[in-house]
Amino acid sequence: MSRKVMMNGAYVAWDHATVHISTHALHYGTAVFEGIRAYYNDGKGQSFIVRLTEHVERLYRNMRVLRLTLPLAKQEFADAIIDVVRENALKEDVYIRPIVYWGAGTVGLYPCGRANDYAIYVEPMGKYFDDIDAGLKVCVSSWARVSDNALPPTGKFAGAYVNSVLAKVEAVQDGYDEAILLTKDGFVSEGSGENVFLVRNGTVLTPPVSDDILEGITRDAIITLCADRSYDVRERRIGRTELYAADELFFTGTAGEVAPITSVDGIIIGDGGAGAITQELKEAYFNAARGNDPRYTRWLTPVF
Ligand SMILES: Cc1ncc(COP(=O)(O)O)c(C=O)c1O
Repeated sequence: MSRKVMMNGAYVAWDHATVHISTHALHYGTAVFEGIRAYYNDGKGQSFIVRLTEHVERLYRNMRVLRLTLPLAKQEFADAIIDVVRENALKEDVYIRPIVYWGAGTVGLYPCGRANDYAIYVEPMGKYFDDIDAGLKVCVSSWARVSDNALPPTGKFAGAYVNSVLAKVEAVQDGYDEAILLTKDGFVSEGSGENVFLVRNGTVLTPPVSDDILEGITRDAIITLCADRSYDVRERRIGRTELYAADELFFTGTAGEVAPITSVDGIIIGDGGAGAITQELKEAYFNAARGNDPRYTRWLTPVF
């Protein structure tokens, strides 16, 4: 593999991009990461990183919670991300994974005093969901979403992803594509790696940040796209039964993009296909993210 990974500011060959066994983050999940897409636009011969500034803002916001710091200003870190994509020269759609973590040292929970390390790498990524066009079969997970007062779900804290992995594995092994997790109080929260939207009587609804969701950047983009189309879009608490009664349901996420949901726990949603509003928002999102809609070029950072 000829790809290069940036580790603490220096490029390292893919096969040598390793961490020490005593790395705090490996044992205790004390890392904060991001997931960013860059879409390659063939016609323009250009790759566009989607919402780079917002991803770096979220990363730095969450680093503060874990007391992680870096010797780089946000703009310098954003420039490093662009550099990694350019250096790897991939002329295809890619996923970028920056990660900041408490490094190697002696055993013990208190991490402060050891190194704050970071790495940035890139990998090719097509569809995250094979069935994104046909629509997803999902279940309501038996796992509750981690709650904010126990382990913050609002950012990409590595340790919190055990919750997502448990839900995802259960869903897939039970024959579903994805899970929807409820809060500990039983309200709709989100997918294992996606935010969820519901359409009912033309109104577009999504759970509020206070219902233990990741503050999704694609979620924010969809809210903007809805508002720009004069859809009535609201952030409000959603009950479990509202999922089954929805006219349309869909997930949003950097990896998952805009993915229609066609059944929940075997109950068919709407007419069992991707709903009209979902389809419209999906197309609008792809046009914006791929650099084909000049109204949203503010979301894009060209790489080459
Ligand atoms: C748990 C979770 N929810 C939602 C999302 C979607 O967030 P974004 O749109 O910022 O990618 C993600 C992204 O990976 C996620 O991990």
